[in-house]
Amino acid sequence: IAKLLISIILAYLVGSFPTAYIVGKAFFHKNIFEYGSGNVGTTNAYRVFGPLAGTVVLIVDILKGTLGAFMPVFFGLDHRLMLFVGVFAVLGHVYSIFLEFKGGKAVATSAGILLAYNPLLFGICFICLALITYVTSMVSVGSLVTILIFTLASLLFHDWILTTVAAIVTVIIYARHIPNIKRLLKGKENLVPIGLAYKR
Ligand code: G3P
Repeated sequence: IAKLLISIILAYLVGSFPTAYIVGKAFFHKNIFEYGSGNVGTTNAYRVFGPLAGTVVLIVDILKGTLGAFMPVFFGLDHRLMLFVGVFAVLGHVYSIFLEFKGGKAVATSAGILLAYNPLLFGICFICLALITYVTSMVSVGSLVTILIFTLASLLFHDWILTTVAAIVTVIIYARHIPNIKRLLKGKENLVPIGLAYKR
């Protein structure tokens, strides 16, 4: 139980690493909270600081989830604990100890847990999110639709840990996207400068 607790704490601390905030401050001398959607995540880093910064934030934020999920394995615990411990990395990303418990919207770090657990499913979700984002030019729509499809599709695998964690992550992601959902309903969601809808 001590090893599990340490895994959880380390996963939370890894998840707390405020990538988009640090990239903004270190390379652009800007506080990401004050620009674009104000979110400390990949999409807003892309929107405010450009493709390179967005890609760096995406990769690091994904790897936070992956590293968090591997904590139980590093401590010799049952690998089925990976997904559960990974959720604490997501919670760190969303409620970062380094940002007065503020943070991002959970998408990239959640994807990172899946990368650790099942890289093939990660790849399928990544393509799904990228396609929806390409068509709509709205990462929020890509994120919200992909996590919902994934959670429903996970029922086909009869892997109750996967489905339970997917459902928990869905709730976190939807709760964090309430401002986006409100903007979507009003037809006023922010676009990202990629894809079909942006060009029109
Ligand atoms: O991953 C976050 C994305 O779904 C929305 O980000 O900055 O448009 O609110 P943002």
